[in-house]
Amino acid sequence: MARHLTPSIDYIRKLYAAQDSLLASIDESLLRLNIPIHIGAEEGKLLQMLITLHRAEKIVEIGTLAGYSTIWMARALPPGGHIYTVNKDPAHIAMASHFFDQSEVRDSITMLEGDAHAVLPQLSSEAPFDMIFIDADKISYNDYLDWAEKNVRPMGLIVADNTLLHGTMGLDLPPQNIAPATWHNMRRFNERLADHEKYFTTMIATQEGLTVAIKLF
Ligand code: DHB
Ligand code: MG
Repeated sequence: MARHLTPSIDYIRKLYAAQDSLLASIDESLLRLNIPIHIGAEEGKLLQMLITLHRAEKIVEIGTLAGYSTIWMARALPPGGHIYTVNKDPAHIAMASHFFDQSEVRDSITMLEGDAHAVLPQLSSEAPFDMIFIDADKISYNDYLDWAEKNVRPMGLIVADNTLLHGTMGLDLPPQNIAPATWHNMRRFNERLADHEKYFTTMIATQEGLTVAIKLF
């Protein structure tokens, strides 16, 4: 998300991506805990736009945090649609459960608890999926793409947050504050999605980078 709210982002949020009281309380909780690393409201609306345009009914999210993005996405699902969201941190699981229980879309959300590397193989039995949203540990994005290549349907969507890796992807080398392995992994992830034979891809130039790719195979 945009860490610094500009007047333009503020304008877009107010006009097109107003939060209800539930989303606002998740936002406030994360701010209070000093982990405001969830997507912005305008990005939540964008995910809803992608789900609606693509008529996605079965979605996997890797990285629930407190369920802010999950609730945005669940609210765009058609009747009978479902989102599976993977959460590994016990404190975050407790928060997300609390907020899901308060939401009108709780029946269309399944939270899978544990590290995605362990959980995703179990989720393969529910494949194929229409869309995956990757917003978890940045060093593992290629592992999640490996899974998506097998479990997202042809013409399905692969969406990923933070693909500019905090503004460092355009540099020639990883900066001091970023682990080189994470930086090289994100470069590789982005390059894999640049294979025109396999993907139709762009990156939306949010502050963090939001990749949107159609899996062509
Ligand atoms: C971090 C993680 C995110 O998913 C994000 O959007 C911003 C920051 C982080 O771990 O610092
Ligand atoms: Mg993120």
